Amino acid sequence: SSLRALAASSSGVRIGTAINTDELGSNAAYDRIAAQQFSSVTPENVMKWDAIEPKRGQFDFTAADELVRFAKQHHQLVRGHTLVWYNQLPQWLNDIGPSLTKKQTESILKQHIFTEMRHFKGKIWQWDVVNEAFNEDGTLRDNLWLQKIGPSYIAKAFTWAHQADPKALLFYNDYNIEYDGPKQQGAYDLVEGLVRKGVPIDGVGFQTHLDTQYGIPDLETTMRRFAKLGLKTAETEVDVRTTLPVTAVEQSAQNAGYAQTLQACLLVKACISYTVWGFGDEYSWIPGVFPGEGAADIYDENLVAKPEYTALQSVL
Ligand code: XIL
Repeated sequence: SSLRALAASSSGVRIGTAINTDELGSNAAYDRIAAQQFSSVTPENVMKWDAIEPKRGQFDFTAADELVRFAKQHHQLVRGHTLVWYNQLPQWLNDIGPSLTKKQTESILKQHIFTEMRHFKGKIWQWDVVNEAFNEDGTLRDNLWLQKIGPSYIAKAFTWAHQADPKALLFYNDYNIEYDGPKQQGAYDLVEGLVRKGVPIDGVGFQTHLDTQYGIPDLETTMRRFAKLGLKTAETEVDVRTTLPVTAVEQSAQNAGYAQTLQACLLVKACISYTVWGFGDEYSWIPGVFPGEGAADIYDENLVAKPEYTALQSVL
């Protein structure tokens, strides 16, 4: 049985994948796996600000709309990714950023959230409203939003997002918050404060970009900790990279990385989805960003299922 069918009959957790829209509609094997195996999809790039508004005031929703159409056709839910981030901003915004006042920056950010969320209103299950706001030491990352608006940019973004599409689930999303430490604590303190003040946040996304050399985090305990705040959780960008070529011991560590992180989601009631960051090594972002590493996905370069796929099946 497919991953989506197994999950539907066992737990109700959605099994998702990031989608590379360059392949969608032009690669039959890619389309087939995307449709058959997954019940949730996330655009890998095409809902990011640089893709949506390449020139100021000129919007391009073509590729994202295509993804939303694919999802509907295959009875999949969509995770919107992502509205407020420091990366993949359009060049025009990077250019004018330094000269903006606080008021102007707030207005641009609010406008962005409203325009994008209203375009997709009613069609997005979960939105990653704020992405990667923390440094490893638990302080807020120095980005345009922090510089111009201050730490309140996060609460403001969630408030605007809720106004724009009241039914969407609103997530804070980050990496390396799966492990105990200052970054996880920073994110915890942030979302605890948002909940306490009544800011509309629904969940925390754990990206879960693992590497066999750093070990498997205890996501069951961590997600329960966040769930006690009344929040949902999700694993949003799972992959398990390793150095190439893959040895037998690394392969079994990768299998365990996938199986244990999925098991954590299945055991924690608050965890509503488990999303892999793409499903084929040919299309993975890892080799481009982590030199010498790869083989992070559950299908190989030829879209043949790997042992990681079987490992996921075995816990469902
Ligand atoms: C990555 C994409 O996979 C790449 O194609 C792109 O070049 C850069 O961004 N955390 C995130 C994702 O939240 O948006 C990133 O996706 C991977 C890390």
